[in-house]
Amino acid sequence: MRMQLRKTGLLQTVILGTMLASTALSATPLRELVKPQQQYFGAALETRHLQDKQFSETLAREFNQLTPENEMKWSYLQPERGQFTFDKADQLVEFAQNNHMTVRGHALIWHIQNPDWLENGDFSKQEMLKIMEEHITTVVSHYKGKVKYWDVVNEALDDNGGFRPTLWYQALGEDYIAKAFEFAHKADPDAILVYNDYSTEGKSPKANAAYRLVKKLKQQGVPIHGIGTQAHLVVGVQPRVADIAANIERIKELGLEFHFTEVDMRIQGEATDRALQQQANMYQELARLSAYYDNVNFLTTWGITDKYSWIPSWFKGYDHGLMFDKQYQPKPAYLAVNKVFTDKAQGKFDWEPPAPLADAGRRFEAFISNQAKRPMPLDGDAAKWTNAVFYPFAYNQLGGKDLTLPAESDISGRFALLYDNNTLYGRVERRDDKTVITNQAQVWENDSVEVFLGFGEEFAQIRALVGEEFAPTAFQADIENYWSEDGTVLEFSITPKETSTLSGTTLGFNIALADNDAGPDAGRHAQLYPVPGTNNGWQGHDFGEVFFTAQNTEISDKLKGQVVSFKAEPVEGLDANTAFDASLWANAYHYPFAFNQLNPADQTPPSQDIISGSWRVAYSGNTLYGVVHRHDSKTVTTGDDWQTDNVEIFIKIGEKFVQFRSIVGQDFQKNTFPGKHIAKWNKDGTIMQFAIELPVDSLKGKTIDWNIALADNDDGESRSSQLYPVPGNNTAYLGEQLTRLDFSQ
Ligand code: XIL
Repeated sequence: MRMQLRKTGLLQTVILGTMLASTALSATPLRELVKPQQQYFGAALETRHLQDKQFSETLAREFNQLTPENEMKWSYLQPERGQFTFDKADQLVEFAQNNHMTVRGHALIWHIQNPDWLENGDFSKQEMLKIMEEHITTVVSHYKGKVKYWDVVNEALDDNGGFRPTLWYQALGEDYIAKAFEFAHKADPDAILVYNDYSTEGKSPKANAAYRLVKKLKQQGVPIHGIGTQAHLVVGVQPRVADIAANIERIKELGLEFHFTEVDMRIQGEATDRALQQQANMYQELARLSAYYDNVNFLTTWGITDKYSWIPSWFKGYDHGLMFDKQYQPKPAYLAVNKVFTDKAQGKFDWEPPAPLADAGRRFEAFISNQAKRPMPLDGDAAKWTNAVFYPFAYNQLGGKDLTLPAESDISGRFALLYDNNTLYGRVERRDDKTVITNQAQVWENDSVEVFLGFGEEFAQIRALVGEEFAPTAFQADIENYWSEDGTVLEFSITPKETSTLSGTTLGFNIALADNDAGPDAGRHAQLYPVPGTNNGWQGHDFGEVFFTAQNTEISDKLKGQVVSFKAEPVEGLDANTAFDASLWANAYHYPFAFNQLNPADQTPPSQDIISGSWRVAYSGNTLYGVVHRHDSKTVTTGDDWQTDNVEIFIKIGEKFVQFRSIVGQDFQKNTFPGKHIAKWNKDGTIMQFAIELPVDSLKGKTIDWNIALADNDDGESRSSQLYPVPGNNTAYLGEQLTRLDFSQ
């Protein structure tokens, strides 16, 4: 195998892999580490996997619990009405018994992988209830005493937290859930019965709905003992540990167990070292939560090895989600999980979950400054920035109500921040067709970079003209900088005298790139910031924030910045059904699609030629109107809906959250929103107009939670970017990371 890999030029992978393998062999297997406790390390599998010797060995060595990945689903157990086929599932149960493993049955009631006779049966309500009772009774009785845990109902909620209109819901209404638990309990009173779902880890609207559901079942006396969250996560979309912890605690207060039931963490594209490390960090967080909370007793991964994972066939372009790679080499994720439980076994586990923070009022994610991992000489070398996140200069605050950007060749750029102790490091990359620093009369009219830091009441502004040092100010700090010869790269360090460490803290932050193209006697034509605003940074207004990340620390709920919200002006005469008329939109704010939330390392959007766009919203009465302009080198509208070129709109009013999606050229897809809504495209897919009636009398003076995204797929497989007006990690679809839309008076 070594030779084979060498031939494909993956020598490095081999060395790394071998290193990890020997580490793993010296590490105590997971199931040994938790022997005295009731903690399950589980894996999902199919019987055919047991033929693979490495698979069954790894399974028996590391895991003390198994879940049939498919073979206890309806289509397997009852393919024809009344005919039960248990042989495959029985083989798994037998393997478990031979190897002293606990079995989790999956899943008694689900909306997919059902047999045709059930899907197309057209049964009456009464019959459906009978069919459900027969199935659950037969299956649970068959495994009585052999299957200790059951996922009784799987995925009853939709992504917004409403009831999913499954065949069971349509036939029996909400009540089918309670009934399923009752039938299962009757068949095996000793079994532990669980409600299982995905995207329910933290405190998203869906997680809240799952909490309310199990609470209600509990209060009604329904025999439910736990809640499972699948945790099919995406590397780069960091779950908020404080939110998961808070969720676990409220579930615990209900007297219920909390299980991670189907864990995997898929990586988009290559499994780079960086991605594998991020993945290990995320696995580590789930392991810590499991080690810390006594009601979190399942950490079950959806498979063992990437060799057989469901990910590549279900999520195009993604893979590498498990703890063991395709050669059964343990990945950094395995070592991270093992370390947590080794520490625990040795009495050295002293982790505590971060305190839950409300982050009330934060409607624009703080920019992330990670801790520097290398020495940080100011020399322009990009290599020392590999663990930083890059952000675009996204808004031109000099355009009045038009905040869109000039052509990228005219002026554009991106920046990144890192820190070490009390020193903030910054890097700006700047593209400019003409550099002007000759205006002697007003220094701020020149090409420059300005940095703003907010310390509560105090704020500091420092400015460096292109090629020059930061001009001295009253701000007490050591400041140094470097410019590349051609003025395209700036690196700086700022060490505030009165700050002992930045680690874990938040500061107000802004940064601006000014561009003068006219010469000594004229002013700037653009000043680009990463946040929308009114160019008032110099007066201490319109601040973004920077969060200096640290282990086990989450951003404070004390706002250090105040980004201006997005605004919808009242406009009359708009109609989504008639052609776009620019004159009607003259009074509206005009915003760019600014941040690519699909790239966690660099939120700068692709080149304007590949994908770019802008959006405007306005209102009349209770109707929100909008127009999206879109420029795309290639339009793809086939494939999975969310992977197409589309516009998505996210709205939350009170507890109600809705995601609207319009694939280029098409109306909004079906959704649960009660009000009228329409999306209309022009012929060539460059302009979309929409109207959404909101459940209020009038929008005047109101504020809603809001976001909007422009997705771009160029390879026909999966999106390469999704552009939002705010930074974030693409969780708007869960109702998180929404921003604010104010309806002017
Ligand atoms: C998946 C299996 O992994 C696939 O092999 C199968 O084709 C479809 O189902 N949530 C669940 C699991 O509860 O049952 C699903 O398993 C993955 C999502």
